[in-house]
Amino acid sequence: MRPLDGRVALVTGASRGIGAATAEALRQAGARVVRVSRRLDPADGYIDLPADLADVAQAAGLVERVQRAAGVPAIVVSNAGGFLLAPLERTTVEQLDALLAINLRAAFALARSLLPLQRSAGGGSYITLGSVADHVGFPENAAYAASKYGVRGLHETLVAEYRGTGVRLTLISPGPTDTEAWDPYDPDHREGFPARSRMLRPADVADAVLFVATRPPHVAIDWLRLGPV
Ligand SMILES: NC(=O)c1ccc[n+]([C@@H]2O[C@H](COP(=O)([O-])OP(=O)(O)OC[C@H]3O[C@@H](n4cnc5c(N)ncnc54)[C@H](OP(=O)(O)O)[C@@H]3O)[C@@H](O)[C@H]2O)c1
Repeated sequence: MRPLDGRVALVTGASRGIGAATAEALRQAGARVVRVSRRLDPADGYIDLPADLADVAQAAGLVERVQRAAGVPAIVVSNAGGFLLAPLERTTVEQLDALLAINLRAAFALARSLLPLQRSAGGGSYITLGSVADHVGFPENAAYAASKYGVRGLHETLVAEYRGTGVRLTLISPGPTDTEAWDPYDPDHREGFPARSRMLRPADVADAVLFVATRPPHVAIDWLRLGPV
């Protein structure tokens, strides 16, 4: 018997990086995993629902598709996100809008459609990927931090709104993690950034998600921060 046998888990941004590692960890723990992102390479053992979550209509239609394919997920990992590293003066308002659309608006829309279902089902685990940039300001991070501080504000509000419903909301805020999100920025040769070899691995973050998802319902974990040493 595995810890998540019989559970349905939804992971957004599951095509690569932290989301892919998380989907795999949850699947190995026994969950039926629904993967969502714009492009998904075929893989055995998953239910795949491609969607562009920055598109309001596609985001709104997703929940119906999830319910038809798998029912109400007991575990939701709201992970899909974009990244941008640029000084304020080289960040356009359009870039900010694009980042907010996936990092904040899509996270809001997903919570708005899934949390009522989890509450009606009597509970669940709702896990959101924040970032160290949801509580620390770094240079070149204005747009990204604005989106992630927003995500933390959303999370803290929802913790208060859903207290006592049986739904456990958790924000996981990792530090730098070696994924393709860093490819355009070459952190190995950029002053002030950890080398990729010193970053967290996607599997480290996936382990944290699995830890949260496998706690018994009476355990609250509002916020889990992890980073490289
Ligand atoms: N890497 C880090 O250092 C780090 C640190 C702290 C927090 N985080 C957070 O962790 C999460 C995952 O980051 P990552 O590093 O794994 O990023 P990544 O490797 O770039 O993966 C991003 C994932 O999000 C999906 N995605 C992006 N835009 C989407 C859209 N419009 N609709 C649906 N899916 C979309 C991508 O799939 P498609 O392109 O196929 O849609 C992909 O699966 C993000 O929320 C990020 O902010 C990352």
